[in-house]
Amino acid sequence: MEQQKRYGHFDDQHREYVITDPQTPWPWINYLGNEDFFSLISNTAGGYSFYKDAKFRRITRYRYNNVPMDNGGRYFYIKDGDTVWNPGWKPCKTPLDFYECRHGMSYTRITGKKNGVEASVLFFVPLKKWCEVQKLTLKNESNEVKNLKLFSFEEWCLWNAATDMENFQRNFSTGEVEIEGSTIYHKTEYRERRNHYAFYHVNAPIQGFDTDRETFVGLYNEFADPQAVMEGKPRNSHAHGWSPIASHYIEVALKPGESKDFVFLLGYIENEQDEKFEAPQVINKKKAHALIAELDTTEKVDKAFAELCALWDNLLNIYKVRTGNDKLDRMVNIWNQYQCMVTFNFSRSASFFESGVGRGMGFRDSNQDLVGFVHQIPPRARQRIIDIASTQFPDGGCYHQYQPLTKRGNNDIGGGFNDDPCWLIFGTVAYIKETGDFSILDEMVPFDNQPGTEVTLFEHLKISMNHVINNLGPHLLPLIGRADWNDCLNLNCFSWDPNESFQTTENVSEGTKAESLMIAGLFVVTGKDYVALCRKLGKDDEAERMQKAVDAMIAAVKKDGWDGEWYLRAYDFYGRKIGSNENDEAKIFIESQGWCTMAEIGAEDGMVAKSLDSCKKYLECEHGMVLNNPAFSKYIYEYGEISSYPEGYKENAGIFCHNNPWVIIGETLAGRGNDAWSHYAKILPSYVEEKYQTLHKVEPYVNCQMVAGKDAFKPGEGKNSWLTGTAAWMWYTVSEFILGIKPDYDGIRIDPCLPETATDYTVSRKFREAEYEITIHPNGSQKGVKSIVLDGKPVDGTVIPYSAGKHVVDVTM
Ligand code: BGC
Repeated sequence: MEQQKRYGHFDDQHREYVITDPQTPWPWINYLGNEDFFSLISNTAGGYSFYKDAKFRRITRYRYNNVPMDNGGRYFYIKDGDTVWNPGWKPCKTPLDFYECRHGMSYTRITGKKNGVEASVLFFVPLKKWCEVQKLTLKNESNEVKNLKLFSFEEWCLWNAATDMENFQRNFSTGEVEIEGSTIYHKTEYRERRNHYAFYHVNAPIQGFDTDRETFVGLYNEFADPQAVMEGKPRNSHAHGWSPIASHYIEVALKPGESKDFVFLLGYIENEQDEKFEAPQVINKKKAHALIAELDTTEKVDKAFAELCALWDNLLNIYKVRTGNDKLDRMVNIWNQYQCMVTFNFSRSASFFESGVGRGMGFRDSNQDLVGFVHQIPPRARQRIIDIASTQFPDGGCYHQYQPLTKRGNNDIGGGFNDDPCWLIFGTVAYIKETGDFSILDEMVPFDNQPGTEVTLFEHLKISMNHVINNLGPHLLPLIGRADWNDCLNLNCFSWDPNESFQTTENVSEGTKAESLMIAGLFVVTGKDYVALCRKLGKDDEAERMQKAVDAMIAAVKKDGWDGEWYLRAYDFYGRKIGSNENDEAKIFIESQGWCTMAEIGAEDGMVAKSLDSCKKYLECEHGMVLNNPAFSKYIYEYGEISSYPEGYKENAGIFCHNNPWVIIGETLAGRGNDAWSHYAKILPSYVEEKYQTLHKVEPYVNCQMVAGKDAFKPGEGKNSWLTGTAAWMWYTVSEFILGIKPDYDGIRIDPCLPETATDYTVSRKFREAEYEITIHPNGSQKGVKSIVLDGKPVDGTVIPYSAGKHVVDVTM
């Protein structure tokens, strides 16, 4: 393996990842914002901002897959004599005397030093405010007076991120701005249907500005050498059409030792239709002035920042472990939970691999994401469940995606992903177990957002189950539809036309026979949950009915879903096996091993143990478990997109971190703690960060969706970081199945599954109105709780019954 260089390290005390070299192997990013206003920011300050929807309400422009990579962002240019530099090194790339980027919980601080001047910028989105704060502190660390010329820079996006990048015949004529004091307003299309504008403000007098990109940069210059900056002269340009930007120019004199703060604000405002203008052609700036006034001093900004930090203190205080293993503790207590929150906020829409224009929120994705944050913000989980269920159809099917701004199902992609309905049960059960709030089941929820169609949420769960039962194939296994969890296993697509989308093409939809073992396992897992829920609600007939369906599914899997050493993956359109020893390639797949072992199908016959052993034998490699093995070496018309990927990448035998936890949970249910742990540690970012930053390439503090598998050209290389179901599944796995603290309807179930080497550990868990301090003594055992003592009294079984207040729990294994 090539010599591995390090680019940064964890700072657990501050809950930060500290990047010390700006030339990371890939932009290492962070997310700002928690509710409405969001930003992405790289370690060199690249990225962009948007309001709620990365496609329809993009505030600043960004060009993906650019040359160089990650160009465009919020830039501060400092001209000190003949030297021009940026605190984040880019875009000028002037060598710095010091560079550091600290990515923290919803904030990023970038510091650069050059020739005796320190420039430090704190970026964050204050709670409940629609703006990004950029607090720039300039400090003169030299012995002489410094006369600096400071230029800020943001480039406006013309709101719709998709058309912004294509419809130039219109775009180049629509751009409009206003300038008032130290504030530059962007008001493109405000004259017509838009009731919103953006602004970029600084809390200091400015000595000039620019709002026209070409005037500022120069048509033959670049972000690295904008002509206004290089010459130290703003042009005071007023954009009419073309590409509006916002740049302030400030002359800063600093005595030796002196430092000055500047608060820059990138804000977003909406006005009522009849209050849009204060004079003909002049936008109503009242709300902008008010927002600016809330953040126009260092003190106000520091207070807003302290509020943000306090929020994270609270969020991360709900589940806290102390194992003595820093690498585990920092992932559980900080980064895994943080990634879950980011994934909740963004679903799969905006990362440095998701352009923000491609897709909305996934039905299955959002339900899975829920288990990652439901303990932190239950009311938002509740709302999310209702939003998701509102996109369901009366037959239980559902839109595969919906748009966050409108909450409407996305017609471009439609429905027909037959695993989707089951996930609603998964998400809802997780919510009720965390909160004890059964009332959500009585909420009236429409179909396809059509007023007048409302039925209870419980009814939605019922039709979700029914959707599977009503769509069984010849082996009485669930029909797969367009695809199941594996969006790329398109068994009813049959496409030879490269212009067709694998996921929406249904060339052979009549009489489809393709069946999925993944859905079979998922149905059994969620079906058992549904039965237990019905029993809890006293709906015994419904529980009976569904128990029968679950039993029938188990029987079908045992009869036609077992290949001898592992579970089959599917039957294709013609009823031929997929994921069988009989196949030339892709003899075994991870998804059905994960779900059928989680469902414990055939455990009594040794099927679970055999399946788990086969995962170790055929799927596992140095970097985790691959999705299928061996990889497909050619395109298979009957299988669709999965076989379109080169070997070892994505769904064709990549290590899909998302589904490794399924097998890990299977291992924990089987009591195999050593194996569970070794699979888990392989994809745990803190272990990977220690081993190989260069090879892994993407951020070492979060999971990525996929790591190149053993058949790939470069096994171990990560891709698609941040927005992945991996976050929630890693969290669910470690918090509930490895460390063993599992919310249940009536209390907390304690059932860890650990490696033999595990030593005593303590979990502090806030749960509803209670706070538990739970100490576990593993005593070298992998599984099996011997005794639980709650507040000094022994407890029968493994559930500590819920009661409000503070409790001490002692668990011996
Ligand atoms: C999608 C998931 C899907 C997975 C596997 C991800 O990109 O967000 O919905 O299950 O890929 O295809």
